[in-house]
Amino acid sequence: MCGPAQATKTPCVGRIHIKNAAVTFTAPGGKKIEALAPTDLVIEPGSFISLIGPSGCGKSTLLNVVGGFVPLSEGSIELDDVPVMGINPDVGVVFQQYGLFPWFTALGNVLFALKRFKISKEERLDRAHAALKEVGLDGRESTFPGQLSGGMRQRVALARTFVTSPKVLLMDEPFGALDAQTRVVMHDILLRVWDAHKATVIFVTHDVDEALILSDKAHIMSAGPGRIIETMEIPHERPRHIDNIDEQFLKNRNHIIKLLRQPGAEKL
Ligand SMILES: Nc1ncnc2c1ncn2[C@@H]1O[C@H](COP(=O)(O)OP(=O)(O)OP(=O)(O)O)[C@@H](O)[C@H]1O
Ligand SMILES: [Mg+2]
Repeated sequence: MCGPAQATKTPCVGRIHIKNAAVTFTAPGGKKIEALAPTDLVIEPGSFISLIGPSGCGKSTLLNVVGGFVPLSEGSIELDDVPVMGINPDVGVVFQQYGLFPWFTALGNVLFALKRFKISKEERLDRAHAALKEVGLDGRESTFPGQLSGGMRQRVALARTFVTSPKVLLMDEPFGALDAQTRVVMHDILLRVWDAHKATVIFVTHDVDEALILSDKAHIMSAGPGRIIETMEIPHERPRHIDNIDEQFLKNRNHIIKLLRQPGAEKL
């Protein structure tokens, strides 16, 4: 059962329950590296949460265990009450490195994501065209990744992920390599597509403003081995824009920056 989601009769999809989850890696030579301290977190279906924390605190590790790419050393993670035991097709990812196939066009990259679905060729094409249109890339279907800007490549990556209607979307600093203006455009596109598809999003960022502009909640992590030291609910109505912020936004921003400046967080 899905707890609060059941009580409010919202569909129980994409609810993530992280229970006492911890990760210790063994480096070559046998040295143990505690990457993630025991962490508890419930992420409600369809919500957008951010993880912020110092470099090396375990943000990517936490994403990787939710995605089933890295095994847990302790604890468990459930997606809609089913334990995550490995890579799950209901989970999509967008990372900073676009991960596109350079030998496929934009359309070819999106079509590739649909390969595992038993749908007709026509439907595959329709869906891929619609996904590229959704991210504003209609007319660029035949372009190869090497001929696209960084922002456009990330739009293809978004289209490729959302075309499969994932329950959960894991985003690891997806816009970290983009300039400030392109990032603002990407925020608008991401929020529009997220709103249309209702996926649960976990978004890792080093940028406090980005977390405050995008998320329902920001979870702030301590220096490694990381754990969540504070959760901030972000009350502002969307759309939120950096050129139109209020006093509460500034207070929230300063509060998070102070938390990140605590001893041990200096590597941010
Ligand atoms: N496969 C691995 N083997 C050994 N150690 C690892 C492995 N992956 C990550 N680590 C270590 O785990 C810790 C957490 O790494 P992680 O990549 O999760 O940090 P992060 O918060 O994402 O950092 P950044 O903000 O720099 O991306 C680091 O000390 C890192 O060196
Ligand atoms: Mg990382």
